[in-house]
Amino acid sequence: MTRIPLVDLAAAHAEVAEEVEAGFKRIIAETAFIGGAEVAAFESEYAAFSGLPHAIGVANGTDALELAFRAVGVGPGTEVILPANTFIATAEAVARTGARVVLVDCDPATYLIDVDAALAAITPRTRAIAPVHLYGQLAPVDELRKGLAGRDIVIVEDAAQSQGATRHGLGSGVDGIAATSFYPGKNLGAYGDAGAVTTAVEEWATTVRTLGSHGGLRKYHHDLVGVNSRLDGLQAVVLRAKLARLAGWNEQRRAAAARYHELLAGLEQVVRPVTLDGNVHVWHIYCVRVPNRDDVLARLNAAGVGAAIHYPIPVHRTGAFADLGGSFPNAEAAAPQILSLPIYPQITADQQARVAEELAKALSAA
Ligand SMILES: Cc1ncc(COP(=O)(O)O)c(C=O)c1O
Repeated sequence: MTRIPLVDLAAAHAEVAEEVEAGFKRIIAETAFIGGAEVAAFESEYAAFSGLPHAIGVANGTDALELAFRAVGVGPGTEVILPANTFIATAEAVARTGARVVLVDCDPATYLIDVDAALAAITPRTRAIAPVHLYGQLAPVDELRKGLAGRDIVIVEDAAQSQGATRHGLGSGVDGIAATSFYPGKNLGAYGDAGAVTTAVEEWATTVRTLGSHGGLRKYHHDLVGVNSRLDGLQAVVLRAKLARLAGWNEQRRAAAARYHELLAGLEQVVRPVTLDGNVHVWHIYCVRVPNRDDVLARLNAAGVGAAIHYPIPVHRTGAFADLGGSFPNAEAAAPQILSLPIYPQITADQQARVAEELAKALSAA
């Protein structure tokens, strides 16, 4: 039985292998391990891809979020509103600045932040709202922006899962700031940890760059208490090779999602994902909802289908953030039912048919 992985990183590597090997040789010959021309080139290519003037490479997506938060003035005495059904890093990054995490519920159909709930959670201490572009589609940032008109609150977008996604033709970070992750399994994945911050605001871009290089842009001049969070040359080689293919790969993901949509149409127990009007989705994750999820997941895994859960425990139910308390019925109802099916650009129609077949079998046996 051949396994169908959740994500096939080897298939992606096969497409870029020659470029990556040549690039690694170049970096090693130049010993340009931290920073350097390759990093600068990737930053300007990623900025252009994002339609923004500034992209700053950092060590991972969690740092990207933390530095973006700090750059816009999030810190002790302030609050940041974010959805309860995100990966822990969104909350962690806020906590690391010394600010207070304020959770809100998600929309029951798209799992994106509930805009009304976010606006209702604003207090005089709110400095930022952090919508998460979960699974690869943009949250309704436009609606959030409308609701925030006249208030000094920044939208810090968690774009870790949405490289290349647009809403009404616009990408993330267009009039705020966005943080992304290049964790290997992401749509644009490095060969280790990496991340970036994108923004149109030059002052924020400079602060992020300063914070990420020990608080100073000139060697041994430290103006802020910063951190060491830099993108390295080897990762930039990989990211440049993959960025050149990302638009095509995202198109292949959309085709794969459309195939699942048809294949699963006949399975009554399966709730298929919903795309918001105006969104171009990049399908980082294809998330369905099923009854008896844990049993179905175990059966799929036993049958060689690499399904998974994103995410099984809402933030307020984790040990780390249990003290926040609160009740978020949509996030809590989704957590035991959501199921991520294998998706990646190179997945074949045959592989998807087998996933659908195994899912049908698992549902009837569970
Ligand atoms: C929604 C979300 N936010 C933040 C992160 C953190 O990124 P990283 O793992 O690169 O620190 C991730 C990915 O892991 C993510 O999926």
